[in-house]
Amino acid sequence: MRKNIVAGNWKMNKNFQEGLDLAKSINNYFISKPAEKSEVILCTPFIHLQSVASTLTAKGLSLGAQNCASEAAGAYTGEVSAAMVKSTGAEYVILGHSERRSYYHEDDALLNKKVNIALANGLKVIFCCGEVKEERVAEKHFEVVKKQLTDGLFTLSSDEMKNIVIAYEPVWAIGTGLTASPEQAEEMHSFIRGLVNEKYGKSVADDTTILYGGSCKPSNAAEIFSKPDVDGGLIGGAALKAEDFIAIVEAF
Ligand code: PGA
Repeated sequence: MRKNIVAGNWKMNKNFQEGLDLAKSINNYFISKPAEKSEVILCTPFIHLQSVASTLTAKGLSLGAQNCASEAAGAYTGEVSAAMVKSTGAEYVILGHSERRSYYHEDDALLNKKVNIALANGLKVIFCCGEVKEERVAEKHFEVVKKQLTDGLFTLSSDEMKNIVIAYEPVWAIGTGLTASPEQAEEMHSFIRGLVNEKYGKSVADDTTILYGGSCKPSNAAEIFSKPDVDGGLIGGAALKAEDFIAIVEAF
């Protein structure tokens, strides 16, 4: 059966000490009150990874990066490889976030390469997909998400899909305060699960965790997470304050 996940995406926030303090507060809370209904993942900037890895001692807490290079190693100034991420103790990497797609021009072919190299290095991938506002208004959102998944992910084998978490993040809801309604989220999540079913069959589809992301906060998490095909959230802004992030985990 698929697991529930709440993942915090810190983006480019928190200096080293602030990041460690946040990780420690979250860890301390879950030591005293273990998260029983979901896995909790902190996706930090690269520089925090190794230190946060040794901070996270509570059961059910995991670590992830927010990106990795599409190449294995070599003369790629400024890049961080999947093997380097893995060597810090991180288990996950977010790939295909809309900010990477739009600001850094990462397309489906490049993302497919990154997914493969991340999996080859033993990382699990949180693969993001989602439409921009104009695409939703033009009722192209299903088509857009289908293409992102087909070109970015669906070259994988069924076995490899076991290490994939899908995050549906409507771009118009990211950091805007606008949230997809629980019904809009469920509609897309069940569409995504249907695509996985078509490609890989029912057992892979049933086992694939699909997260919602986009202005998820303590006040709306419980309602969104209550939908049958929503298996948790990818949390941006609200992951930067321990009490908000913990409240979202507790929404399960
Ligand atoms: P947000 O970001 O929660 O701040 O909207 C979510 C994300 O981009 O992963």
